[in-house]
Amino acid sequence: MKIAIGSDHGGFHLKQRLIPVIESLGHQVENVGCYDDSSVDYPDYAELVSQKIIAKDAELGILICGTGIGMSIAANRHYEIRAAVCHDEYTAEMSREHNNANILCIGERVLDPELAENIVKVYLATEFEQGGRHQRRIDKFSR
Ligand code: RB5
Repeated sequence: MKIAIGSDHGGFHLKQRLIPVIESLGHQVENVGCYDDSSVDYPDYAELVSQKIIAKDAELGILICGTGIGMSIAANRHYEIRAAVCHDEYTAEMSREHNNANILCIGERVLDPELAENIVKVYLATEFEQGGRHQRRIDKFSR
């Protein structure tokens, strides 16, 4: 899959760690920035990754900030985006299986890096449970 990844300064170091992990799983990664740990504004990177998903230029996105919260709030301004803050493997799995989350949001300041790697692995490996009640629920907040 093609994965768009972005972070602010609060998520920069975790992003640098995750990119080779994602590539080692056979995915193509597009890093939209930031490119060092100078202070930047997370909505700018949430927007870049969201636009990649909306344009179908990437299948899934990953956004990393200090907590994952700001990124998810910003990305979810788009009705096409279902951005989920996940804090363990279970929430990562459910975000795909039940919510069809097309962006994973995680926080560098709140996650052990190994747990963050596992969250990303589970997120990328889990499929949406097509049709039925989950699609009906998503349709209720999608145009
Ligand atoms: C930046 O200091 C921090 O506010 C940001 O990374 C993020 O955690 C916001 O939600």
